[in-house]
Amino acid sequence: MIRIAPSILAADPLALGSDIERVVKAGCEWVHIDVMDAHFVPNLAYSPATVQAVAGRTGAFADTHLMMDNPEQYIGIFADAGAGALTIHIEAGGDTGAMLDSIRKRGILAGVSLKPDTPAERVVPYFDKADMILVMTVEPGFGGQKLNEKCIDKIRRLRELGWTGLIEADGGINEANLPALREAGLDVAVMGTAVFRDPDPAALIARINADK
Ligand code: DX5
Ligand code: ZN
Repeated sequence: MIRIAPSILAADPLALGSDIERVVKAGCEWVHIDVMDAHFVPNLAYSPATVQAVAGRTGAFADTHLMMDNPEQYIGIFADAGAGALTIHIEAGGDTGAMLDSIRKRGILAGVSLKPDTPAERVVPYFDKADMILVMTVEPGFGGQKLNEKCIDKIRRLRELGWTGLIEADGGINEANLPALREAGLDVAVMGTAVFRDPDPAALIARINADK
């Protein structure tokens, strides 16, 4: 069954707590937190304080997506804040293997993310160091974009390359394109706009969960 990780980027910033409570009550154990540094991506979002609040006060698993250059400087800070999963971008440079090791050493799920134009083959050297591969299905930086269909093939390609860990996808995912992602081998679907802009997120989540 696909796990839905609602992305709070699309939540109401003035009602973040109640929006998160609504999706946790609807059965979502994970909440996706996009951290952006206005450098790696042309946007700015969320801080360790938000991760700490989500992890400490909502009972949700803080699935933290670091869209930043030089993430090595922030792994300890976000780990201490309570991140349950910490995903870095392979395009951010630095020693990806060492960063994944240091995330895992803290008992946190180590994730590595690929932007749409980065081939699946780039992440093969880290198969033994990662727990999750995050396939971006949009260009990172903004919610509400249209899913890039070619990225679905990347999910299939990762399985062909022998990846048996978690695959998460992020960007433009909705009830209509979820079946194709599931069939390709997806485990976790980040859904921001589709969940938080739905008039009844709980009903949407229930429908998706019922559709094994
Ligand atoms: C892109 C962000 C978005 C967000 C989900 O950098 O990571 O993908 O989480 O966006 P939507 O609203 O498309 O589900
Ligand atoms: Zn994300």
